[in-house]
Amino acid sequence: MWDYTDKVLELFYNPQHQGVIEDKGEPGIKVAVGDVGSIACGDALRLHLKVEENTEKIIDARFQTFGCTSAIASSEALVELIKGKTLDEALKVTNKEIANYLGGLPEAKMHCSVMGQEALEAAIYNYRGIPLDTHEDDDEGVLVCTCFGISDAKIKRVIIENNLTTAEEVTNYVKAGGGCGSCLASIDDIIASVQKEKASATPVSNSLNQTNGKSAVKPLTPVQKIALIQKVLDEEVRPVLIADGGDVELFDVEGDRVKVILQGACGSCSSSTATLKIAIESRLRDRVSKDLVVEAV
Ligand code: FES
Repeated sequence: MWDYTDKVLELFYNPQHQGVIEDKGEPGIKVAVGDVGSIACGDALRLHLKVEENTEKIIDARFQTFGCTSAIASSEALVELIKGKTLDEALKVTNKEIANYLGGLPEAKMHCSVMGQEALEAAIYNYRGIPLDTHEDDDEGVLVCTCFGISDAKIKRVIIENNLTTAEEVTNYVKAGGGCGSCLASIDDIIASVQKEKASATPVSNSLNQTNGKSAVKPLTPVQKIALIQKVLDEEVRPVLIADGGDVELFDVEGDRVKVILQGACGSCSSSTATLKIAIESRLRDRVSKDLVVEAV
């Protein structure tokens, strides 16, 4: 018997947003759908968004979920979290927020919160006309878990975003390793490589704050913050983008808003939202401050 919170049970027994949203051709309104998972794998979620076009605000959302108690409760939680938000605001909702909204999920059910986050991203990318194969993790990288069709890119992302340290945790979050188990050694290797990357990445904020060999954890001054953002862009982001025919230039920093100019292939690419969110924003949040928001100008 799973140890579910009262909130999980409440949303499972009494979901308010199950169903579909039909596109009735209302002026100024657009309906988008995002699919994730598969019934063959045990969980599937289709998320419907009704969006006001001029504000990009989500004015309604519905879900159709095939899955367990936590999958349905996570879907309901997702809808309650995103209704009234703009698409950009909704894109910032993480699987952790979904789980927190529910008062927590059993570890072995964390993949339900990840599924909600992925369905939301899929729906927003569909709304924006970005082909799925330009952002789905599973179309990048190498297939690691053939039982569940999970790539190394997706495993790496969930490890980083949720600070996972064991193959068992990875299975809980994305199911990889939960079938025949033959990929578990590869998952261990990915965890080890992420930990190595983390260890070798000297936090520049610390080095900037070091005086006479002593580490002083002080907030960055605005000048230090801009210098650090520029350094991370130059050393860690631009080389990747340039290799893909694109580039990025720091335009301005206002508080936690980092304004950038996407150039080359990035500027004209339909997946520039993904570039901003995944390649640039998450890297800057990791290295500089978790509160940073990256915008293209
Ligand atoms: S290949 Fe990953 S569980 Fe079978």
